[in-house]
Amino acid sequence: MATVTTNVLTEPLPLVLPSTEKTVLKSQKHLVSPTVYNPLPTEVPPPITPLAGNIGERLVICVIGLPYRGKTFTATRLQRYLNFFHGADCRLFDVCTYMQHSGASEYENQEKNALKLKSDLGDFLQVDETYSQNMKSADDQESLKKNVDSGRNAIIFSSNSYQGFSEKWSGTGKERRRWIYDQLEDMGQSSKSKFRAKLIFVEIICTDTLVVDQNLSLKMFASGSTGNISDVLEKAEIEKRLLQYSRKYVTLQADGSEDDLCYIKLINYGEKVVTNKMRGYLPMRVVQFLSNLHTKKHTIYITRHGQSEYNLVGKLGGNPPLTEAGKEYARRLAKFAEENVCKDDAGNVRRARLWTSSLQRTILTAEHIPHPIVCDGWQQMATRVYRNLDEIFAGECEGLTYAEIEKLHGSEASLRKMDKIGYRYPRGESYFDLIARLDPLVHELESYEEPVMVISHQAVMRILYSYLVGIDRERAPKLEIPLHTVVKITYDAYNECGFTEERFYLGPEVNKALDAQKNL
Ligand code: F6P
Repeated sequence: MATVTTNVLTEPLPLVLPSTEKTVLKSQKHLVSPTVYNPLPTEVPPPITPLAGNIGERLVICVIGLPYRGKTFTATRLQRYLNFFHGADCRLFDVCTYMQHSGASEYENQEKNALKLKSDLGDFLQVDETYSQNMKSADDQESLKKNVDSGRNAIIFSSNSYQGFSEKWSGTGKERRRWIYDQLEDMGQSSKSKFRAKLIFVEIICTDTLVVDQNLSLKMFASGSTGNISDVLEKAEIEKRLLQYSRKYVTLQADGSEDDLCYIKLINYGEKVVTNKMRGYLPMRVVQFLSNLHTKKHTIYITRHGQSEYNLVGKLGGNPPLTEAGKEYARRLAKFAEENVCKDDAGNVRRARLWTSSLQRTILTAEHIPHPIVCDGWQQMATRVYRNLDEIFAGECEGLTYAEIEKLHGSEASLRKMDKIGYRYPRGESYFDLIARLDPLVHELESYEEPVMVISHQAVMRILYSYLVGIDRERAPKLEIPLHTVVKITYDAYNECGFTEERFYLGPEVNKALDAQKNL
């Protein structure tokens, strides 16, 4: 039988690279080197969603709206989403940080501020050599070299719309929006690299006065308000100014005069969404993501399944049942869910949701959680089973231990060490594949107001957790996610870092070494 040789023309690559080289997709590099059979190989491995994108696409997203609508929150969450799930280089431009208060007239200051923002934006969008040299991560450098950057996205917003209202980049009126449009046209034409940036306005409209009032109270509370008389007076003063601004602010026009602009109007967040001229892959992901976002406080509980028969012997994947310790965790988790997930801080029963993967170890972990009918016929914690939450599929390595992989597929183990996020198991998945299949699920997770408990697996939890708390995706595959522990993440738009985290170790104790947390 003929053996297939690869006959690499260039120097073979060392299998283990210095640990400082964290560039992704190194594990596929040998597949894109010239061989006698394939002297003209494709330069990059096939696009996988988290690295795909439209080569060189530039988006400039302007988040506009009246004060207390959640613009800063929307801008920062969108940045995290585009960066984590789409590998886009996404930068925030806060109009307020560009505001100078020199002795010059207000008009002169506004001109200067606008020019400075324009110049920084231009530097960011045009990718000149100085910029690329300053790009920090090896991932960025590699993407640039291969021309597979998933776009460069700028998000412009005002963190304090009272201050920034009249600034030229604020987008608070028709004239200012047209001005922004013209600036971008001009910027692209006059730049060395002649880029075209697509401008998208995201307007946040709240017709629900309750939401605005809640946003205002939460923001005041976050900045130290205790609700005493001076705070009440301050609130009244803010409301008065808010009314004045709403008389000056001009919403995106539906009379035809702004029909050539691309925009998304979010009315009471996802309640009603109007889009105009939104086309293209990434812009549509932005629409979907933003349609699910809301500023209300909500909690997500994430946990791995109880210890499985495979965990006990260090085997990967498969569909094993729980061990005795795992079954005990399932009982403890049910009690925890009843007392914590299904009740608010005051101890009142509240609606709650439950998600598991389709593998039996997560379903069995959920099996003791009760499902009574509460609040208007709502079935408490009705289990929703998602295949997207299944553990990373190790392909040919399913059911093996790490030691067996080293022994049977030595080069696979080395390739994975090189680049854990990009490495794809033979006939299996990579962490990038996981990121792609978790993307739609995260949209749904963002949309709920009720607490959700997610029971899944180590690799999946690493990705979910990292996204939720803002850890770079390159670091995610090596995070420790212990067994028998619930991580509670409370999203709070007005908390300084956007969320709080608590961990609950429920036990029973299991041997961590067998779980091979630090392996590969
Ligand atoms: O060992 C438990 C497990 O969930 C395996 O099923 C899975 O392959 C592995 O963890 C994922 O962790 P790592 O990516 O570190 O191998």
